[in-house]
Amino acid sequence: MYKLNKIIPKKSVSMTPIEFLLTRQSSPLLTSPAPSANALAQILAAGMRVPDHAGLQPWHFTVISKSGLQKLSDLFVNNSGKEVDNLEKIAKMPFRAPMIIVISTQFSKHEKVPVQEQLITAGCSAHAMQMAAAALGFGAIWRTGSLAYNNGVKTGLGVSEDNEIIGFLYVGSRCKTLPIKPAKDYARKVTFWN
Ligand SMILES: Cc1cc2nc3c(=O)[nH]c(=O)nc-3n(C[C@H](O)[C@H](O)[C@H](O)COP(=O)(O)O)c2cc1C
Repeated sequence: MYKLNKIIPKKSVSMTPIEFLLTRQSSPLLTSPAPSANALAQILAAGMRVPDHAGLQPWHFTVISKSGLQKLSDLFVNNSGKEVDNLEKIAKMPFRAPMIIVISTQFSKHEKVPVQEQLITAGCSAHAMQMAAAALGFGAIWRTGSLAYNNGVKTGLGVSEDNEIIGFLYVGSRCKTLPIKPAKDYARKVTFWN
């Protein structure tokens, strides 16, 4: 197994691509500024550049920032139903970052590409955008929670019943540099056929 302490470069040295991949982690504590228009364009372009069977592009991105965060907060609160005890907490959720990219599916019927493949591809988009944000110096965290599966929230975001919100990617500037988490041992997760 790789020993992360051996591959983490000094702060002043930029990471190699493999170091970048092997030290990936989420950033839950985010603040302004959000990515600039240019940075956002690159993040979205990364989301488009994912493995995609038959090129169906089975995803949609809704970029929410500024007054959009309040709109999302209202949408969450208005659809919280049973979670009324938690309304204050729910109302604050979208403000945990200056930008949220909602990744939803846009399934189409295809004889060779079942929906689960399309779902995976949309997930790849979310991951690619998180990595792109990190490559540009921003932090991000992929969240769902019950509101991602809520029909009222889906409708408010223009996601049809047949489709899914697969994640809210919270993006922003990191509040602080968190220590790199230790690597996870792959030994019990891998089988080799030699
Ligand atoms: C589909 C999906 C949904 C997730 N939903 C949440 C969530 O609602 N809340 C949360 O704290 N983490 C959620 N996570 C996990 C975080 O994004 C993150 O991966 C986790 O906290 C582990 O941290 P790491 O990415 O630094 O390893 C979700 C991850 C995935 C892939």
